[in-house]
Amino acid sequence: MAKEIVVSGIRPTGNLHLGNYMGAVTNFVKMQYDYTCYFFIADYHSLTTHPNPADLHNNVRQVLIEYLACGLNPDACTLYIQSDLPQIPELYMMLNMHAYKGELERVASFKEKARTQPDNLNAGLLTYPVLMAADILIHKAGKVPVGKDQEQHLEMARTFGNRFNRIYEKEIFPEPYAFNYGNNLIKIPGLQGGSKMSKSDGDANVISLINTPEQIRKKMSKAVTETGPLMVDSIPSEAVQNLFNLMKIVSTDEKLSHYTKAYANCSIRYGDLKKDIAEDLINFLSPIREKITLLQADNKLLAKVVKQGREKAQESAANTLKECREVIGFKSFL
Ligand code: TYM
Repeated sequence: MAKEIVVSGIRPTGNLHLGNYMGAVTNFVKMQYDYTCYFFIADYHSLTTHPNPADLHNNVRQVLIEYLACGLNPDACTLYIQSDLPQIPELYMMLNMHAYKGELERVASFKEKARTQPDNLNAGLLTYPVLMAADILIHKAGKVPVGKDQEQHLEMARTFGNRFNRIYEKEIFPEPYAFNYGNNLIKIPGLQGGSKMSKSDGDANVISLINTPEQIRKKMSKAVTETGPLMVDSIPSEAVQNLFNLMKIVSTDEKLSHYTKAYANCSIRYGDLKKDIAEDLINFLSPIREKITLLQADNKLLAKVVKQGREKAQESAANTLKECREVIGFKSFL
């Protein structure tokens, strides 16, 4: 039986952080052996913020290196750069004809941009979910490993895919759903108490995969906690829960259980907790950081991976686009 199809991507905005890693990349690494996977670097998407060309290229290169360092295997999955697929903007254009201003304006990420960057509210931001739908539908994916913040975009991808099927009376696209190996989608909060770890809230808020031990110790020592617990068996605040969540990822069960009990009986010392997490994070991230450093110089490998990915991804994208052109009525005169 054919394996189910998986698509996901990350915008190249610099180094990947722990939120990207936990929300997306750990799933990519596991899924590449269980499914037919297409993982890409979403450089078209990053154009909404008008990056300068040199930065854009460096960031694409960096994400590629970090994907490989995290364990993406270009022989097991298809690993490519979004802008290597001209089929994506063509499908985006087709889907845009059936995407309406009202529904796009109601998307939470657009409303957030309207609030935070009213001076750059471009059409690319408004139609961002359409481009994302094109990314997913171009390979007919059913599963999309993402963090919690992308859930609404997935709902839009289903809407646009279903609408296209209905209008052109053919079941071209399956319904894509967000996926996280049987668990709820996750959102790693920022170290400074921000609801989501994100570079846009400043560097102190994020642990990047390339952070050095000194940087990790410093950032962890400043991570926000709470004044409590004031009573036995209190429920931890979001900030403290975040630290426990980090422990679940990088520390032993014994350590986690020690601090959970200490919280419950009000004897917890946040300084110790944060030091322990910092050391465990350092151990966890060091092998990845070392691989990133090694890959930095390997231009030959990077070129090979990009070429191989482009060829595999284009083949799948071209097949889907051919079907779309046919149902729309783009017929050859030759
Ligand atoms: P982006 O680049 O903002 O984030 C990439 C992935 O990392 C996840 N993520 C998080 N997960 C948990 N906690 C966090 N703090 C955190 N921060 C980021 C995101 O949920 C995402 O999975 N629009 C997408 C990129 C994209 C895409 C696609 C994804 C473009 N086309 C098609 C899937 C399918 C984005 O901006 O993600």
